[in-house]
Amino acid sequence: MAAWTTSSNEALTISLVRPTEDKASLGEEESYENFHPTFTYPIYGEEEKIYGYEGLTIDLRFASGSLVPYLSVNYSAKLPSTSTVDDVEGTLSQFIPSDYLTDEAAFLAQVEQDGTTFKPSGQLIHSYVRLSPLAAANGKGKAAANTQQTLDSEDANAVVYEVYHTTWDTPGFREYHRRMQLFILLYIEGGSYINEEEDSWEFAVLYEKRKRQSTPGTSTYHFVGYSSLYPFFHFPESVRLRLSQFVILPPYQRQGHGSELYDAIYNYVLSQPTITELTVEDPAEAFEDLRDRNDLKMLLSHEVFISEAFGADTLSHGGGRVGGVGRAGRSGKGGVSKSASGKMGPPVDKLWAENWRKKLKIAGRQFQRLIEILTLSKLD
Ligand code: ACO
Repeated sequence: MAAWTTSSNEALTISLVRPTEDKASLGEEESYENFHPTFTYPIYGEEEKIYGYEGLTIDLRFASGSLVPYLSVNYSAKLPSTSTVDDVEGTLSQFIPSDYLTDEAAFLAQVEQDGTTFKPSGQLIHSYVRLSPLAAANGKGKAAANTQQTLDSEDANAVVYEVYHTTWDTPGFREYHRRMQLFILLYIEGGSYINEEEDSWEFAVLYEKRKRQSTPGTSTYHFVGYSSLYPFFHFPESVRLRLSQFVILPPYQRQGHGSELYDAIYNYVLSQPTITELTVEDPAEAFEDLRDRNDLKMLLSHEVFISEAFGADTLSHGGGRVGGVGRAGRSGKGGVSKSASGKMGPPVDKLWAENWRKKLKIAGRQFQRLIEILTLSKLD
């Protein structure tokens, strides 16, 4: 790269800073700090380059629970200030709340305070348990790791995760959202801030919950990711909920958290009588995969659907193998018996399919896609 020009993606480092107690007890201090954005073009321009500095670092830290931000811009040399030298802090500050901290001691005090005072707001809609990343890496609780669902939340190596449903009316949430929305720009291609003036937005926010070693019975909470949802009202009183933005922060990716957050939203949709379906706005490919995988798993967990789809004898002969469609059913393995006959045809019984679609509250195009994947797996 030319002298005095820095990649803004490389210069910007993000950290989610946990209270000392959490770090010390877990030995995981490295994992949540100093990761990079995927995109910075909405902030520093299409080229994602910053001009005028040598040795530039943009240290953007968040208290892991409250997401109170701290910003520190450092460099070894800067060109004399002219109109071509970029204003690193001034530019970024337009995208974060104006009361961000620049005093490191004040920030660290906030982090420690979070440990005792920060609690998520909103309504708890889903929780699940995972082996702590450190225990998993050390091979502790192997049996539990293989059957995560049987891991007890009281197990010493267990970490609980919780999803909270919020709206603009949730106390403190508007401010909280202003802190977390930056992640949309940094990680979703084409992502942009939503309009706070639109009243109807809803959110699902995922947190990690750790037991405090020093004070049994209390916990600390750490932000993992979130999704924004917009309800479209349809005459006379039904709602289509559109999933608009969805992000799991890099330290937590590829551990099944995205799937859990998606399932939490889907089950929330099922639980709300007025919501008739879940739709997704312009999904990225990685999100489409996640959606397919989870929708198929859900579909294949309905024994009645399977037996109607593939014929009455499917479950006794090939039920396990249908379940094996697993990863988006594209593996080519694990189809159902060719001799089985059912509503899947071909041709698919359209009325039957539409009834299931409505019952399961899946959007039309997505349901068609799922049926196609299942049909292909059957033809294999
Ligand atoms: N160990 C290793 N890998 C695992 C584990 C595990 N325990 N559990 C799941 N995985 C794998 C899955 O099989 C999957 O593999 P694949 O990519 O080969 O299919 C992969 O990890 C991802 O699955 P999850 O872990 O459930 O999903 P994750 O938590 O990583 O979230 C997401 C995926 C949301 C796409 C995340 O990467 C992200 O936020 N990306 C950036 C933002 C983005 O693109 N958001 C979607 C935009 S679209 C929209 O907003 C509508």
